[in-house]
Amino acid sequence: MVDDIKYFELNTGAKIPSVGLGTWQAKPGVVGHAVEAAIKSGYRHIDCAQRYGNEKEIGLVLKRLFDDGVVKREDLFITSKLWCTEQAPEDVPVALCQTLQDLQLDYVDLFLIHWPVRLKKGSIGFKPENLETADIPATWKAMESLYDSGKALAIGVSNFSAKKLGDLLNIARIPPAVDQVECHPVWQQTRLREFCISKGVHLSGYSPLGSPGCSGMKNEVLNHPVVVAIARKLGKTPAQAALRWGLQMGNSVLPKSTNESRIKENLDVFGWNIPQDSFVNFSDIQQERLFKGNAFIHPTLGQYKDFEELWDGEI
Ligand code: A2P
Repeated sequence: MVDDIKYFELNTGAKIPSVGLGTWQAKPGVVGHAVEAAIKSGYRHIDCAQRYGNEKEIGLVLKRLFDDGVVKREDLFITSKLWCTEQAPEDVPVALCQTLQDLQLDYVDLFLIHWPVRLKKGSIGFKPENLETADIPATWKAMESLYDSGKALAIGVSNFSAKKLGDLLNIARIPPAVDQVECHPVWQQTRLREFCISKGVHLSGYSPLGSPGCSGMKNEVLNHPVVVAIARKLGKTPAQAALRWGLQMGNSVLPKSTNESRIKENLDVFGWNIPQDSFVNFSDIQQERLFKGNAFIHPTLGQYKDFEELWDGEI
């Protein structure tokens, strides 16, 4: 039986569309066209961040699509994220205000702490001397105020390990709705996913295709023999097999593309299933985190001296 998995329900009661367009590394000058193509193809979920440097262009397109009656604001699910330089409680509402101004919106559907990492306010880039120690409880209080104000209909985190998510849940008045993390067949997040399920936190997967366009990436997901074999058997592309795997695991997926035909291909993941006898083969895939967060660890500066501390053993 085919289960269409078009939405997942958040702990706020809101529905998050299961496929969202990723906009990381979608360059200005290109991202607007991609967002327009995606919305016209049926996407209703766009994943943004102040850090991506393209929210203004996305805002221009959204406004035009609303004005032209192509889509209504209330039918879209828009996420943005608080960058590491803006974690001081007084900076949090200012950062969201800037994002809302750039996106030309009154509210976002989801606002995330981008990393459990703090960088010096005003700093640019990832120099080790800019690393500071995060005060997540203080930042989270400011996030909760944004939720109270109605400017963020849900709040959550990104790149949090199960341990860091658990620490936050212990002190939160409003529990995070989402942990957005790297997730694909080669890094399945088994431990974190079990924890998320037990706490009612939705896991959203970035780099669901393994980010083959990123410098240094080797196309480990789309070229993986298990993914390729399952795709071939089902008459689908490796990208569709990887995305459908994410949906059947219960994760929303955020494939990035600026190419119209691949944007469409990545949404064509409904109305068919990876059958159980093939699905189990994903468990055989050797696991490797592709985005390790090298810039955020340092032996003497900042909060995390190694990957073990940043990811709490999930490495
Ligand atoms: P492009 O934007 O030219 O389509 P991820 O979402 O895992 O970060 O992966 C994004 C990368 O994967 C981008 O380089 C994107 O390139 C490429 N990509 C997106 N969709 C597909 C697809 N269906 N098949 C192959 N590559 C894709």
